[in-house]
Amino acid sequence: MSHDEFPTDDPAVVTCGLPYANGDLHIGHLRTYVGGDVLTRALEKLGQETAFVSGSDMHGTPIAVQAIEDDIDPEAFALEYHEQYEETFPRFDVAFDNYGHTHQETNRELTHEIVEALEREGYVEEQEIKVAWDPADDQPLPDRYVVGTCPYCGETARGDECDEGCGRHLEPGEIEDPVSKISGNPAEYRERTHKFFTVSKLAEYLSEFLDRLEGTPNAQNQPRQWIKEGLQDWCITRDLDWGFEYPEVADAAEDDTAEDLVLYVWVDAPIEYIASTKQYTERVGPDTYDWEETWKESGEIVHVIGRDIIQHHTIFWPAMLHVADYNEPRAVVASGFMSLDGDAFSTSRNRAIWAQEYLDEGFHPDLLRYYLTTVGGFQDDIDFSWDRFRERVNGELVGTVGNFAYRSLLFAYRNYEGTPDVDLSSEVEDRIVEAIDEFEAGVNDYSIRKATQAAVDLASFGNEYIQRHEPWNLDDEAAAPVIRDCVQIAKAVAVLMQPVTPETARRLWDQLEADGSVADATLEAALEAPPESFGEPTELFEKIPAERVAELNEKLDERVADATDSEETESDDTTESEGGDMDLEPLADERIDFDDFQGLDIRVGEIVAAEPIEDSDDLVRLEVDIGLETRQVVAGIKQLHDVETLPDTRVVLLANMEKAELFGYESNGMVLAAGEEADLLTTHEDAPLGSKIR
Ligand code: 2FM
Ligand code: ZN
Repeated sequence: MSHDEFPTDDPAVVTCGLPYANGDLHIGHLRTYVGGDVLTRALEKLGQETAFVSGSDMHGTPIAVQAIEDDIDPEAFALEYHEQYEETFPRFDVAFDNYGHTHQETNRELTHEIVEALEREGYVEEQEIKVAWDPADDQPLPDRYVVGTCPYCGETARGDECDEGCGRHLEPGEIEDPVSKISGNPAEYRERTHKFFTVSKLAEYLSEFLDRLEGTPNAQNQPRQWIKEGLQDWCITRDLDWGFEYPEVADAAEDDTAEDLVLYVWVDAPIEYIASTKQYTERVGPDTYDWEETWKESGEIVHVIGRDIIQHHTIFWPAMLHVADYNEPRAVVASGFMSLDGDAFSTSRNRAIWAQEYLDEGFHPDLLRYYLTTVGGFQDDIDFSWDRFRERVNGELVGTVGNFAYRSLLFAYRNYEGTPDVDLSSEVEDRIVEAIDEFEAGVNDYSIRKATQAAVDLASFGNEYIQRHEPWNLDDEAAAPVIRDCVQIAKAVAVLMQPVTPETARRLWDQLEADGSVADATLEAALEAPPESFGEPTELFEKIPAERVAELNEKLDERVADATDSEETESDDTTESEGGDMDLEPLADERIDFDDFQGLDIRVGEIVAAEPIEDSDDLVRLEVDIGLETRQVVAGIKQLHDVETLPDTRVVLLANMEKAELFGYESNGMVLAAGEEADLLTTHEDAPLGSKIR
């Protein structure tokens, strides 16, 4: 890595993947936006000048197909959702400096300028390709107009993406057994001339770029593998009448190929990151924030995305920026998947907690922000359940942070009407410095979880400190230094918690009657003396009762059951396919007896080594310690896990599985995993390696 630590002298921009403007937001969507917001606020705490931008993705077949289904013009359709998103994000304190959309003029101009640069620099070629066509309706079927079989993994996929299988981006013509999503007619392939961005010429640049790239490991490892496998050129046009027209290119005058083509949605979508930053500058003036400095001179560009779009952000996008002479991203931070009570979100089955619904239930946005930030951080998969939500809120926010702040400030108010007039102890000063260091290290690691943990650990130290000194058993004079220390800790907690719980931090700051705003305060404020006088505090958080959770679980179950029933009774065959949906396999009818089960020798193990098998798309060679011996096992998890992070993972191994040979490697056992994402089974506590599963 060749980057200076944050804060740097250059302006930063944090972007969040643009949501397609085609449906209501649920808390799974919010994960990326809350993550980006927390990271931005945390960078600002370090004193890093940072803009936070995003916008709605208005083009492409994700919009066009849904608009056809709703029988409405795609622009009007997308604008409606765009407006909804614009209102929803601030309700969760996701405070973009600019939130635009891709159909705006700023984006059109920049997109055309960048595509013209690709043409001018010789990186655009025409190719005859097969595109899916509905012969009955005589209409082209780009991307999501078509469904079929993924040629790589055999799963059902939509035109440009294997969304339920291996996650690959699919080029036009690749999908097998194509069928029109609109009419259900079997599709055929026809020859058409399209424009291609010759990404394959940039493999060397992209490899070097990846060596410099920071962020989560999944955003570096997967693209390295794709480059190794050989990059394909990228089709950047579509037969579609919704999107930006292909620009007229000066020295391709007699070229009429592009006349009825629009740009592929993935060309103009990331350019909206630049357009949105430009709009921000246009609003606040370049003295406050200069988009050109960030994007063209020396800014720190940080992309926060879902892990299904790593390829677009680490291959296509930096390649476009490089050729068009823009800065390259400094970091790509890719989040894991999010599930709900152990299963995927399913918007078609109403198996989701909708953003608006969460607020309507009366929960404070800070609680969800805290949960999303601390349960999985950025890269790990997150499971949401109301039970775990309650545990986190009651345990950490109420029990640790809220409890410490309230008891300290109440004691201070009752006995001293504010902060006692004595010096801060060196023990507490050192502990706050340590928390600040941990926070800074977390931010530089792109780990908002670690940064937040620094704040919670400090509050926990505060509880231990007040307990140890028992100021309630001391007279006012003897208790003063203890309370002085505690008020300082409370102030530091407000500063460090502000990125994750901005509104609660503001209330704590106001209770302390501290100067200025905690949003603007940088880390130094954590050590500046709190005001001498302040009023009576109130509790920061409220406990969630167990009955409330039972009620919420019941509501969710009922709703899913209703949605499933009505889906079944509708009994049409228009299967809705949405990112992340999953159909559960029916339970097996046939029973096995106990002896059959005893015949399975299942053991607790630990991965001690893991390496990708070079020639295979999916396979990884593992060495698994099962106490009695170490087994070599070949597992099909390359696309689904970061191979580098597998060592030290506790797993469950079927030890008497028939041996097999795969790509020349003997596989002696089978690692057990759940679901499409190969979620590795592990143990709840620490049963010794080799323990038999009974
Ligand atoms: O996958 C998606 O939801 C896209 N709308 C993300 C676009 S992100 C960016 F590159 F524009
Ligand atoms: Zn696939």
